[in-house]
Amino acid sequence: MNFSLTPSQLEIQTRARQFAREEVAPLARQADETGVFPLHLVKRMGELGFLAGTIDPAYGGSGMDYLSYTLISEELGWADSSVRGFLAVHGSLVSLCINDWGTEAQKQRYLPRLASGEMIGCYCLTEPNAGSDAASLETTATPDGDGYVLNGEKIWITNGGLAHLAIVFATLDRAKRHKGICAFLVETASPGFIRQPMPGKELGHRAADHAHIRFENLRVPKSALLGAEGEGFKVAMSALDHGRLGVAAGAVGVAQACLDACVDFARTRRQFGKRIGDFQMIQAVIADMAAEIEAARMLVYKAAWMKEQGLPTTRQTSMAKLYATEIAVKAASEAVLLHGGRGYSSQYPVERHYRDIKGLQIYEGTSHIQRIVIARDVIGKES
Ligand code: CAA
Repeated sequence: MNFSLTPSQLEIQTRARQFAREEVAPLARQADETGVFPLHLVKRMGELGFLAGTIDPAYGGSGMDYLSYTLISEELGWADSSVRGFLAVHGSLVSLCINDWGTEAQKQRYLPRLASGEMIGCYCLTEPNAGSDAASLETTATPDGDGYVLNGEKIWITNGGLAHLAIVFATLDRAKRHKGICAFLVETASPGFIRQPMPGKELGHRAADHAHIRFENLRVPKSALLGAEGEGFKVAMSALDHGRLGVAAGAVGVAQACLDACVDFARTRRQFGKRIGDFQMIQAVIADMAAEIEAARMLVYKAAWMKEQGLPTTRQTSMAKLYATEIAVKAASEAVLLHGGRGYSSQYPVERHYRDIKGLQIYEGTSHIQRIVIARDVIGKES
């Protein structure tokens, strides 16, 4: 067992940290307040090789290992969850999914453009009546000549208003539950692809783009199928295995940002004639935070390592997402409290982390769903 990063992993971590701290973090507060995603960062992430990290260079990717890709998510999570969330959807749910399931023609058509940022991707699974129970989705795919016609609606689609390409999940026959679902690659300029921003104001991720999308008699050719007919649910779940790892790494980044802010504050803020970091109650909070972050990071890195070995990672990824998001929620809450009145103001980033982190606990499968995935794997099927 070797816990050291390789020279190449260290180089990517350094590059990602520099980008996150110098180019992403300074924009985070303004992006949060205006609700406008800093779109120029997409092209920058393309130039830096982050958008399609593990994808083969033959398709425009950087060919890095999964741990390196995870390190990028951690660094971006430290700076801004809206930007890290963009990458989880674009890079993992979309690009890695096409990489796993796409035909040669689909890979050649889309992966290089997704890698450079020329195209933006979104992943259309969630519906008004199908959130955690993804197999109950209602969007229909009706065979028609040499293609299909899609009708239905999706909600909470991250990058949905910006995307050029959508992976859309639709059913041929609802009675078949997951066995009736197909995945389609849909170009968002297609007639019948209708999108608008989600109503209301989100608690966090305020710079992220979240759309409500409708498909009205949207025609796709047979060549738009991603995977075989009826394989769409597996396509969706395998994409989530990639995406959840990025969310878990992002949560470690958020928790680390909270710890760093607390350490700075504990060293400089003086009350009762000494640094607040010299009080044992503050020390206990910081010690727990540091220990929990270290444990979460190890779960995340192990899942990335297992992915690299080609091992099944569903259980490990869900454990990483569950634990990392839960401890990050706790870290953000403690960080706000430790900063007192300052933690309650947008002048200090912990206020934004406290709002953002609830999103990580919900999207790409809530903590309840991660527990279901883990428990089913631990207990196993009845023989
Ligand atoms: N990889 C590949 N195949 C998988 C799989 C995986 N990780 N997980 C399950 N499958 C397969 C199973 O093997 C099974 O196949 P067979 O029929 O051949 O046996 C099939 O899929 C059905 O599996 P289940 O019986 O476990 O299905 P289920 O209906 O009980 O659901 C669930 C399981 C884990 C609860 C699933 O519905 C789930 O993950 N729900 C949460 C959905 C979710 O995360 N939504 C987030 C959307 S994306 C987002 O939030 C971000 C955004 O912006 C787009």
